[in-house]
Amino acid sequence: MRRIETREARVGVIGLGYVGLPLVLLFEQNGFPVIGFDVDEVKTGMLNRGESYIRHIGVEPIRKAFESRRAVATIDFNRLAECDAIVVCVPTPLGNHREPDLKYIHMTAEAIAERLRPGQLVVLESTTYPGTTREELLPRFEAGGLRCGRDFFLAFSPEREDPGNRNFSTRSIPKIVGGIDAPSSRAAEALYGAVVDRVVSVSSAEIAESSKLLENIFRAVNIALVNEMKVVFDRMGINIWEVIEAAKTKPFGFMPFYPGPGLGGHCIPLDPFYLTWKAAEHGIWARFIELAGEVNTSMPRYVVDRTVEAINQQKKSIVGAKVLVLGLAYKADIDDDRESPSFELIELLQARGAEVSYCDPFVPVARRGRKHDLNMASVPCTADEFSRYDAVLVATAHNAFKDVALYAKTKMVIDTRNIIPNDAAVAVVRA
Ligand SMILES: NC(=O)c1ccc[n+]([C@@H]2O[C@H](COP(=O)([O-])OP(=O)(O)OC[C@H]3O[C@@H](n4cnc5c(N)ncnc54)[C@H](O)[C@@H]3O)[C@@H](O)[C@H]2O)c1
Repeated sequence: MRRIETREARVGVIGLGYVGLPLVLLFEQNGFPVIGFDVDEVKTGMLNRGESYIRHIGVEPIRKAFESRRAVATIDFNRLAECDAIVVCVPTPLGNHREPDLKYIHMTAEAIAERLRPGQLVVLESTTYPGTTREELLPRFEAGGLRCGRDFFLAFSPEREDPGNRNFSTRSIPKIVGGIDAPSSRAAEALYGAVVDRVVSVSSAEIAESSKLLENIFRAVNIALVNEMKVVFDRMGINIWEVIEAAKTKPFGFMPFYPGPGLGGHCIPLDPFYLTWKAAEHGIWARFIELAGEVNTSMPRYVVDRTVEAINQQKKSIVGAKVLVLGLAYKADIDDDRESPSFELIELLQARGAEVSYCDPFVPVARRGRKHDLNMASVPCTADEFSRYDAVLVATAHNAFKDVALYAKTKMVIDTRNIIPNDAAVAVVRA
């Protein structure tokens, strides 16, 4: 605690991705020496040279932190022994049967356990089901004879990063902290209290783990609701976007969510299923989560059906039709394409016989992912290019796509994000 107060405490951050890298910068900016750990040598090399691999973070803060050598990145996990506090931000994906895949957490837990020494604080930040910190980390750490709360400290603190959101930063987003025991809570509160504006202390690691899941389930369910409303209102000839604009003028009791072509990103499509899996262990079914998953995963197919219909209305066949998908990133103005519904849109359209291209200034080349390998590169974002297609399908609301002049010669736009104004002189199908 004293070392935290005096900023002498060395902070180790494991997993230097969308969550871990901003944390490295935050601790460094607040005067702490930081070691960033990753298994990916390309990333650690780039950071040590002052380069960025996450576009919205940019180069400047990384150069500042790493050039001074107050922050260093490494693949040498022996250096964990040098750290007073260790923050774990490794991936928590789903397996092939939508079951939690804890292999990264297990690998990291073993790496820490081998080097754990008295006085260290370990905080798990990766999103996971309630009980992970106590059931998966604690026994591994205590196996060597050290006791939690006496010799070392262990807590869970969920990450609430919203990549690309300019209104909130890692510092200004309140940080929930829940320890395995009271001393662990106090140690974790002290660590985060030194770098964020507000720490919210809860009574256990399980409450902290569950609060993160509730936040993401809340989003998944509400997005599903509005996606279902889109299908219903569309059948009735009512524009869902105008309905939401009207409803959101209510100053209380309503929060707008917007429909889209399906869920994307590393969190909302995956995290809720960590809870359904754990709930099943207790013989209980989380039906809202399953239903939301069903509605949200059916969206790409719905959008493709609407596209096929619209092309048919033009007296054309989808077989051989040229379709341009706008946006490979899962949300506006970021370069993160993980779990993006655009991959499925492209594959479904190809399966129906369309010739598909994509345009995304943030993703010049489609990276090979766990499930998809498109082997495609972005076409230019110009009116001439857009005019070459039978349909242009807006999947992501990048600002670059909002200039209506781009669509001046476009034959037809399928707009899943409501970026084309009602009065634009172009044929629009909202889907
Ligand atoms: N991206 C978000 O906005 C966000 C928000 C809240 C919570 N989360 C959660 O935070 C966690 C991390 O997500 P992310 O988006 O930063 O993932 P990411 O894929 O961007 O980063 C994970 C990093 O961990 C590294 N890694 C993998 N295995 C490792 C190991 N054994 N040891 C060290 N490093 C390893 C990877 O190389 C990668 O750099 C996940 O649990 C996620 O659900 C993410």
